[in-house]
Amino acid sequence: MLNFISVHDVTDIDAIVKKALMYKANPFADKTLGTNKRIGLLFLNPSMRTRLSTQIAAQNLGMEPIVFNVDKDGWALEFEEEAIMSGNTVEHVKDAAPIMGKYFDVLCIRTFPSLKNKEDDYSELYIKQFIKYAGIPVVSLESATLHPLQSLTDIITIHEEISSRQSAILSPRTDDRRPKIVLTWAPHVKPLPQCVANSFAQWVNAWGKADFVITHPEDYELDEQFTKGATIIHNQNEALKDADFVYVKNWSTYNDYGKIYCNDPEWMLTNEKIKLTNNAKVMHCLPVRRNVELSDEVLDSANSIVTQQAGNRVWAAQAVLNEILKSAK
Ligand code: CP
Repeated sequence: MLNFISVHDVTDIDAIVKKALMYKANPFADKTLGTNKRIGLLFLNPSMRTRLSTQIAAQNLGMEPIVFNVDKDGWALEFEEEAIMSGNTVEHVKDAAPIMGKYFDVLCIRTFPSLKNKEDDYSELYIKQFIKYAGIPVVSLESATLHPLQSLTDIITIHEEISSRQSAILSPRTDDRRPKIVLTWAPHVKPLPQCVANSFAQWVNAWGKADFVITHPEDYELDEQFTKGATIIHNQNEALKDADFVYVKNWSTYNDYGKIYCNDPEWMLTNEKIKLTNNAKVMHCLPVRRNVELSDEVLDSANSIVTQQAGNRVWAAQAVLNEILKSAK
């Protein structure tokens, strides 16, 4: 693996899921793989889970992580080619990234979208500029349109849950139907990127082992390049019927880019709605706005697997770094 910015960088999803679960069982199995290797974690936006889990994953492999909060401590970066830098930006990525390439062996970057210019955001200019100029492997810690480390984690968590249901002595699955996964839009107080939803759709579709339904209010369509293959239903109750997994996430409008049209609280997932499902496990990438996106009663119930899911971020990152380190040898 040369870079990790989308599902297209993975040749075998099942194999990388298996590797992640191997690390979950034995975190230090490859504790010398990254000896004398330095990994830079650049944040142009806030993070808790991604920041901590990627550092832990790197340390489990013997790497030395260095975190740099570009948004707070760095110079304002310019990404446009041939920009006349007479505004607020101080340093061009074509000057900064090659220096990162000298300091580090692997470079990880978080760059959120502006939500102002769809064309710019969906061209993934920022992360592509880092790939172009750094000269070392680049890992996305969430880019303008995708969050692949989160989505790999989500597949790992779903796989783990399905396996544990299948091996449960008291409640074995009595059928071999494909699991039903529902991605549902949820209300929020401000416009959020489409990254997590795009990325989850891209990975579930590529994984191909589930019946996949996306439900959202009209006008919240996502980019078809990610959702193609999923069934889109605008009636949330209908969509939730018999779901095994419900993934809750807000996103702003894609077509009329970055807007909030509907904020109907009826779209918040409650225990009443869980009754429509097949006692579904509830997922969210976190952070979550309690009693806006998801009710306390659901988040604090046995249906919620959000903590297990966030815990698995370490093993997803460790499996990806393993692939990158092996390719760099
Ligand atoms: N899910 C996720 O990426 O969390 P953070 O923003 O805290 O890293």
